Amino acid sequence: MNTKYPMALLGLLTILGCELLTVVSSNKTEALRIMENAPVIDGHNDLPWQLLSKFNNQLNEVNLHTLNDTHTNIPKLREGRVGGQFWAAYVPCETQGKDAVKRTLEQIDVVHRMCEAYPDTFLCVDTAQDIATAIRAKRVASLIGVEGGHSIDSSLGVLRTFYHLGVRYMTLTHSCNTPWADNWLVDTGSDPAKSNGLSEFGKNIILEMNRLGMMVDLAHVSAKTMKDALEVSKAPVIFSHSSAYKLCASARNVQDDVLRIVKEKKGLVMVNFYNDYVTCSSKANLSNVADHFDYIKNIAGYESVGFGGDYDGVPRVPEGLEDVSKYPDLVAELIRRGWTQVELEAALKDNLLRVFTEVEQTSLQMSSEKPKEVPINYQEIKSDCHTSYGYKLVDTSAAAHLHAAKGLLLMCLVYTLFH
Ligand SMILES: *[C@@H]1O[C@H](CO)[C@@H](O)[C@H](O)[C@H]1NC(C)=O
Ligand SMILES: *[C@@H]1O[C@H](CO)[C@@H](O)[C@H](O)[C@H]1NC(C)=O
Ligand SMILES: *[C@@H]1O[C@H](CO)[C@@H](O)[C@H](O)[C@H]1NC(C)=O
Repeated sequence: MNTKYPMALLGLLTILGCELLTVVSSNKTEALRIMENAPVIDGHNDLPWQLLSKFNNQLNEVNLHTLNDTHTNIPKLREGRVGGQFWAAYVPCETQGKDAVKRTLEQIDVVHRMCEAYPDTFLCVDTAQDIATAIRAKRVASLIGVEGGHSIDSSLGVLRTFYHLGVRYMTLTHSCNTPWADNWLVDTGSDPAKSNGLSEFGKNIILEMNRLGMMVDLAHVSAKTMKDALEVSKAPVIFSHSSAYKLCASARNVQDDVLRIVKEKKGLVMVNFYNDYVTCSSKANLSNVADHFDYIKNIAGYESVGFGGDYDGVPRVPEGLEDVSKYPDLVAELIRRGWTQVELEAALKDNLLRVFTEVEQTSLQMSSEKPKEVPINYQEIKSDCHTSYGYKLVDTSAAAHLHAAKGLLLMCLVYTLFH
C-alpha cells in the first residue's frame, strides 16, 4: 500500500484546516483587538431586576462572580468586553400610581450598592467623561436608566430627584400609558390612545429632561410619542433597546420614517437582541441581529446605531448571543460584513458618548432656565393613593349643588314675579 498520497493529503488537509481556522478566528481576533480600546457601552441591561426577583435586592445573598443562571455576571462581562452599561431601574407597570416611586428608588439603590460591593469591577458614573475614565481604569462604567415614565408618578420633583441620584436616561413609558405619554401597545390596538403621543405636560417633561441633562429614551413608546419627542427635544434622543421595524414588524421597533428623523437629529438606536423583536418569532440567531445593525446603519447611518442587548430583561436571546460574553462574536460578524473600524468604534461606544455629551451641553446651554414648576392637573392623577396637598381644588360636587340651587331659586323668583 502506498502511503505517500494519504500522507500528502493529510498534510494538505492540515494546512487547509489551519488556514480555515485562522480565517475563522481572525475576525474574532480583530474584534477583540478593536474592543480593547473600544469596549461596548450597552444601552440596557436588567440585572437589577434579577437582583430584585431572585434575592429581593439582598446583595449579601449573591456572588456576582459566580452567579450562573443569569445572562450577566462578572466573568461574562469581562469576556464580552463590556466597558459601560446602563443598568435599568425597572419596576412593572402594575406599580403605576401605587409604589412605583419607592420601588424605583430601591432599584437605583441596588445599582449604587452593586458598585460599592464590587469596586474592582464596577464604577458608578454619571457623566460622559467619567465613562471614558472608568473604561481607562478597566472598570465597567455603570449608569442608571429609569425604564418607564410611571416611575416618576407624573412628578417633575421626582424626575429632578432621580437626576440627582445619578439617573441619566428615562424611558418615557414602559408597556403602559402614563397620564402624559402613550406607549407602544397603543400601536398594536391593545391599549387605547390617551394623549395621542405626548400631552402638554409630557412635552414639559422632555424640556425638563433637556434642562437637567437626562437622555430621553424612546424604547417602548408609541410611534406618535417618538415623533412628538423628537420634535420637542432640544437634544438628541436614544432608543436604549429597540430594533428595526422593517425586519420585524413589532411596534417595539423603529419604523423607517422615525429612523430618518433620528439620523437628522443625530440620535441613537441601540439594537435589542430579544428574539421576538429580532425575527418576530421565538427563534433568532446572531446573524439575524447583525441584519438589524446593517439595516439601521443603511437608513440612519453608522453614527446612529448602537448596542442595547436587553440582557436579563427577556426570556429568549439569539443563538450565538446567549449572554453578555458574546458581544465580540457579533462584532466579528459585523467585520465579516464589511464594517470598518471607525464604524464599529462608533456603534460600540462613540455614538453613545457623543449623544450623552450633546445632552450635557444642551443642559449647560439651558442653565439660565428655571426648573419647571407647574404640576400635572390633579384630575390626571386622582386616585385613592394620591392626596391633593398643594392643589387649590374647587369642590366640584359642592359647587355643582350650589349652582343647581341658585338656578332653582332664580326660577322660583321669576315664577313668583310673573304670576
Ligand atoms: C451554578 O451555581 C450554583 C450555586 O452556586 C451551583 O450549585 C451550580 O453547580 C452552578 N452550576 C454551574 C453549571 O456552574
Ligand atoms: C440564522 O437564521 C437564518 C434564518 O433566519 C438562517 O438563514 C441562517 O442560516 C442562520 N445563521 C446561522 C449562522 O445559524
Ligand atoms: C472576515 O472578514 C472579512 C471582511 O472584513 C471577510 O472577507 C472574511 O470572509 C471574514 N472571514 C470569515 C471567516 O468570515
